[in-house]
Amino acid sequence: DKGPYPYYMLKEINEQPNIMRKLSQEYLDVDGKPTVDPKIISAMKKADRLYIVGAGTSYHAGLIGKALFEKLVHIPTEVHISSEFAYSDALLSQRPFFIFLSQSGETADSRVVLNNINKDYDSLTITNVENSTLSREATYTMLLNAGPEISVASTKAYTAQIALEAILAKALGEAVGQTTAQNFDVKRELSLAANGMQAVIDDKDRIDQISKKYFVHANRAFYIGRGEDYYVSLENALKLKEISYIQAEGFASGELKHGTIALIEKGTPVFALITQKKTAALTRSNLEETESRGSKGLTVVRKALAQPGDDFIIPDMSELLTPLVSVIPAQLLAYYTTLNKGYNVDRPRNLAKSVTVE
Ligand code: M6R
Repeated sequence: DKGPYPYYMLKEINEQPNIMRKLSQEYLDVDGKPTVDPKIISAMKKADRLYIVGAGTSYHAGLIGKALFEKLVHIPTEVHISSEFAYSDALLSQRPFFIFLSQSGETADSRVVLNNINKDYDSLTITNVENSTLSREATYTMLLNAGPEISVASTKAYTAQIALEAILAKALGEAVGQTTAQNFDVKRELSLAANGMQAVIDDKDRIDQISKKYFVHANRAFYIGRGEDYYVSLENALKLKEISYIQAEGFASGELKHGTIALIEKGTPVFALITQKKTAALTRSNLEETESRGSKGLTVVRKALAQPGDDFIIPDMSELLTPLVSVIPAQLLAYYTTLNKGYNVDRPRNLAKSVTVE
């Protein structure tokens, strides 16, 4: 039931702050200590490398997981597109542990990978659907409990997956004695994220205006950033293209000058994410390079890094979890652009919610 919302996508975007609070209640105790199944933690503790596998938006959530596991647990983490990994004859580490990310738990590409590794290695499926195939077939499972996601464009599953990866990384990091994990107050971060998400959602009319002014008539758009901001840019671009049919690309901002900047024309929207201190100045100058070639630059910036003229300011929070908030403006931008172009937001052409063929 869509309730008062014209489309499920808007409803699902709106649910995200509460999902953050719910995950915090479900997987953290009052003191903020993770309450993850100890069997999962002891299986993961034996691993020398994590392999995160997913498709589409779930793959993009996995990229953020890499940053979380590497920083909080200090364990090397690879992230793979399931359809590629399935046939890659990858050289695995001595003691791999697999994490499958899948909203539906039914994605065929990911199932092939699970079948390949199932005899030999332990795995965990993080999914939104209880009893789904990937959750039944993996050794362990954790539920996102984000409520049914109906819109083909995934929104709340992405942020729920990231939140759960953060909780899992905190739990594992503490179990192996990493001080970065001990000092990472995931409960506080999720609450900051929930508030930050809400502030963007409350600003949605302005996003609608930005959409009408700069996106509805564009035939291509770029989303840029570095590090985690780059990973979120990939997700932002997927969101816009799959429902509005505007050709969109997520790009590592430093790579633009190596070719892609040739595509910038007068008015091409370039949407930059600037939440990481180390690379903020670099991404800004990459954005300016596109503006001097006529692009319309837009920025999503963490407060401490903000400058006059920035478009969206997100709260100061751990740089590891800024994706939870920095993804929201572009989710809404994709929503409004599609609505303003007169397309069906929830049911884009050529796509199915659950992709059960390879
Ligand atoms: O159910 P899954 O998370 O395994 O689905 C993976 C992709 O098919 C899915 O994320 C797809 O990319 C979405 N349409 C993106 O919005």
